[in-house]
Amino acid sequence: MSDNQFAPLQNDRFLRALLRQPVDRTPMWMMRQAGRYLPEYRATRAKAGTFMDLCRNTELACEVTLQPLERYPLDAAILFSDILTIPDAMGLGLYFEEGEGPKFKKPVRTSADIAALEVVNTAKDLDYVTNAVTAIRRELNGRVPLIGFSGSPWTLATYMIEGGSSRDFARAKEMLYNRPEDMHQLLSVLADSVIDYLNAQIRAGAQAVQIFDTWGGALSHTAYREFSLAYMARIVQGLIKENDGRQVPVILFTKGGGQWLEAMADTGADALGLDWTTDIAQARARVGGKVALQGNMDPSILLAKPERIREEVASILASYGRGSGHIFNLGHGVTPKVDPAHAGAMFDAVVELSPQYHD
Ligand code: CP3
Repeated sequence: MSDNQFAPLQNDRFLRALLRQPVDRTPMWMMRQAGRYLPEYRATRAKAGTFMDLCRNTELACEVTLQPLERYPLDAAILFSDILTIPDAMGLGLYFEEGEGPKFKKPVRTSADIAALEVVNTAKDLDYVTNAVTAIRRELNGRVPLIGFSGSPWTLATYMIEGGSSRDFARAKEMLYNRPEDMHQLLSVLADSVIDYLNAQIRAGAQAVQIFDTWGGALSHTAYREFSLAYMARIVQGLIKENDGRQVPVILFTKGGGQWLEAMADTGADALGLDWTTDIAQARARVGGKVALQGNMDPSILLAKPERIREEVASILASYGRGSGHIFNLGHGVTPKVDPAHAGAMFDAVVELSPQYHD
């Protein structure tokens, strides 16, 4: 499917900055921008039923994707979905326990469990996601680009093995060290699934994609390369590079990955997401000639007063310095207790303070 079925893009500063092309001001969006900190999200979510009901309802998924754009002058929308749709489609039975986060009815533990897994067929089992992508693109009507996303194989594997969230990843790490061939088999099926899933999102209308490697930072220096980065590199190589005459940039985000930026940039990704533990000026000096950088305000700053938020925005913009290649964002997702007005103060500060860094 070609996407000239969609209206021309009116604001492309996000896509331009990802490719380090000149922009008038620093583009911005926020991880988890459609979420529980917004009262309008909570209202739509209540109407939909469970979180997965909301993801599967094209019209309501489209509605919540656009909600933050009604409030803030954002430069990108992100598909409303979840990274755990892939293991759900593999038959693990995803559900959400109130206050406890995601859970799987059938975690993957034994060699036989892993051998039985098949690469997902996005067209067949995840068409609710690609349908949402196309509906959102239509509804956006060219206002801003749409970001598609997936979890990294390692991050998905941790949830599949642990059966949910974990503090120490004991089971996943035990498998990694005792049965590396099982772990590689699992990661390999996941990498092929992510390639199919992201390419389907791109064909359906996603104009950039982000890989969330939320738990890559829990790995040792050598394990990170072998068990997380290698599979993300395989994904970057397998993605559609261009759609409807425009490059589709890829953003790699390893939370806690600040020490591995050079290796991450070598994957061929166009941009790297930074969490708040990395100095963005130093990151730019290390890899800024090769990739754009996205980030990296501590989400907790949004709990502070608006004047403090503005100071922090000013400091991050100054730290990156002059020129393109920076996409302002948080260093991880916005949390449910944040006052929407505080997110507004952050975005206003980017709009007011960032033009001085561009020609
Ligand atoms: O950024 C966006 O606005 C797009 C939507 C998005 C969601 N999840 C919506 C969501 C994205 C990009 C994700 C990714 C995701 N999901 C990640 C990687 C990103 C990260 O934060 O590091 C992970 C680890 C997950 C798994 C997951 N899904 C968790 C840990 C939770 C929270 C569970 C809880 O109860 O706190 C979810 C659920 C989820 N995904 C919600 C939203 C808005 C909240 C669900 C609700 O409405 O109750």
